[in-house]
Amino acid sequence: MPPISRNLTSATLATLLVAGSLAPAPLTAAPAATASDKAPVDAASWQRADPAMDRFIADLMVKMTLDEKIGQLTLLTSNWESTGPTMRDSYKEDIRAGRVGAIFNAYTAKYTRELQALAVEGTRLKIPLLFGYDVIHGHRTIFPISLGEAASWDLQAIEKAARISAIEASAEGIHWTFSPMVDIARDPRWGRISEGAGEDVYLGSLIAKARVRGYQGGDLSRPDTILATAKHFAAYGAAQAGRDYHTVDISERTMRDVYLPPFKAAADAGAATFMTAFNEYDGVPASGSHYLLTDVLRKKWGFKGFVVTDYTSINEMVPHGYAKDLKQAGEQAIRAGVDMDMQGAVFMENLAKSVAEGKVDTARIDAAVKAILEMKYRLGLFDDPYRYADAAREKATIYKPAFLEAARDVARKSIVLLKNKDNVLPLAASAKSIAVIGPLGNSKEDMIGSWSAAGDRRTRPVTLLEGLQAGAPKGTTIAYAKGASYHFDDVGKTDGFAEALALAEKSDVIIAAMGEHWNMTGEAASRTSLDLPGNQQALLEALEKTGKPVILVLMSGRPNSIEWADANVDAILEAWYPGTMGGHAIADILYGRYNPSGKLPVTFPRTVGQVPIHYDMKNTGRPIELGAPGAKYVSRYLNTPNTPLYPFGYGLSYTSFTYSPVTLDRSKIRPGEPLTASVTVTNSGPRDGEEVVQLYVRDLVGSVTRPVKELKGFQKIGLKKGETRTVRFTLTDADLAFTRQDMSWGSEPGAFKLWIGPSSAEGSEASFELTE
Ligand code: BGC
Repeated sequence: MPPISRNLTSATLATLLVAGSLAPAPLTAAPAATASDKAPVDAASWQRADPAMDRFIADLMVKMTLDEKIGQLTLLTSNWESTGPTMRDSYKEDIRAGRVGAIFNAYTAKYTRELQALAVEGTRLKIPLLFGYDVIHGHRTIFPISLGEAASWDLQAIEKAARISAIEASAEGIHWTFSPMVDIARDPRWGRISEGAGEDVYLGSLIAKARVRGYQGGDLSRPDTILATAKHFAAYGAAQAGRDYHTVDISERTMRDVYLPPFKAAADAGAATFMTAFNEYDGVPASGSHYLLTDVLRKKWGFKGFVVTDYTSINEMVPHGYAKDLKQAGEQAIRAGVDMDMQGAVFMENLAKSVAEGKVDTARIDAAVKAILEMKYRLGLFDDPYRYADAAREKATIYKPAFLEAARDVARKSIVLLKNKDNVLPLAASAKSIAVIGPLGNSKEDMIGSWSAAGDRRTRPVTLLEGLQAGAPKGTTIAYAKGASYHFDDVGKTDGFAEALALAEKSDVIIAAMGEHWNMTGEAASRTSLDLPGNQQALLEALEKTGKPVILVLMSGRPNSIEWADANVDAILEAWYPGTMGGHAIADILYGRYNPSGKLPVTFPRTVGQVPIHYDMKNTGRPIELGAPGAKYVSRYLNTPNTPLYPFGYGLSYTSFTYSPVTLDRSKIRPGEPLTASVTVTNSGPRDGEEVVQLYVRDLVGSVTRPVKELKGFQKIGLKKGETRTVRFTLTDADLAFTRQDMSWGSEPGAFKLWIGPSSAEGSEASFELTE
């Protein structure tokens, strides 16, 4: 479940919100947001050999009893928040007794200091606690939800958001975030699609790296960096029918080609920890999967960090029908490669017995303990267990103006313009009276979406109404009517319509702020419909009948089915849940102070019946194009086109970009030889703007069938009005690799097609050949 925030007292909050004077550590310079990320990734600092650390940990482990070791493998929640059943109310007792090595859902310098003192002053070996937390898209200053950030296609901005999140979180005592979630998600019914980077393997992998770099900052010994967690390992996004926690049943090839690469990218970028998934893979729950946790992660990828389970997922191996009782589940988990048990208390209560019975090898326990202690050492906690719990730094850091400004900027970059009939946007100076209508028009709590960590949902977020009021030209009247409800049960209600329509009638422009309540996405928030919930659709149709221009600002954490809106309203902006500064960011776009540049990281279906639908599907033996229009025996629906409403990579601008045909520097390449594809892009419209230039490839014939298109590069470029630029991409056969029929990884010689364009559905085409 998303955290149910048991907020701090308002007095504590007020103290924390006072701006201080201490400057936080500077942001690291982010790498350029260019297409390929092929430069070798520097090993993160924690991966380097450290003989002094090895000696220290070896000495410490000699002193540890089995129970103390098992304590280090135990992570419990504090009672501030919970994301599931709270198994242990007595966590403070457990800390004092050395039965717990890590705590989550506890923050603020004061509180983490208090808990840390229990460990380092109250236990025999004084081993410091590790504090984890779900810092997903911001800590106090909240950025757009992760799916929204992905829509920016701006790796530098995404890395900066993670860096700021780490600076704020670390100032409040947190050492470790349960982020990034790198699950590929292709089913918008699944509420957790909002937490990841969307449907694409390539984009998702680059974003995974950017986020890991942002959190860990390249150097874990700095007190403003925190451990990252690549989660949920693996294939959690493939839950059947989009129902959360449901069975996953995919081929090993799909696992390797689609679901694993973002995890591999995170590991390559140095992610210090991995979290298991709730789901099974090939009949084995992920927390018991030796294949995933040991064969792939440790042996194949060389991962040296530690693996934590998801919340009580060892316990869940019993209802999965994989373990007969908790004791057996614990044995299966530790043997598979789990190091730390989140909240299940299974290791705590059973592992010693399993060791006594010879069911678990002590060497495996030692390896897990060592991996965890190493991270505590790398963070500097053995030198100073309180180094993250610094009240002065906390006061000076959270909600810093520069962080809020960065949140506004990332929010602007994440907004996608889906429709703009007759350039109704940006709002004209003649729009003197503006009606903001809809349940999301003035709702603070919704702006920051789910998994908003310690973000304040009640007072801080800037709503769309507030953003417009703050940023409107002088002499503009802006009025608000809620009009409709987004609650499922309010479908037939029309009580708010009259007020909203009266306001609409006397206004020049209607901004319909509609979408989903924030907790309709995130964990345990699956839907069978993608329609606007409640009675919003009916109100939208009534607003359209007024004949006034209608601009739909959509706020939600998943693609909604908005086919009617696409056909009938004048403009549509996808604003996701845009974060603390969301209202300002949307107003910046509506008033043209920022020219929209976001592109969809996920396909928008016309209807839920098309799901799963993603741009890199297979062609089938009967592609629709093979038949005459309306032909029956081809792969299609009787009642809906195969095409989505908006394709992956799609997004408009207030200017327009013209693409030249693609040129290739050669038509054949041998393995290892580079191919350069170029295109000239011109800003042919009325204003400066940014464009995400995208490169797609198709392998025409393979030893196994290949997707119709795969993203292999992108560059986000800024072009002044009238400016032209040549954009070049370089590919080698390594970019064309996949899991071949014999399950080996590599490319295959043959013919390829290549496109460069503004989305996955457009672009000019070229062909080349990969020879032996
Ligand atoms: C979620 C994880 C999260 C954990 C801790 C679980 O319910 O699946 O993503 O990190 O709770 O809050």
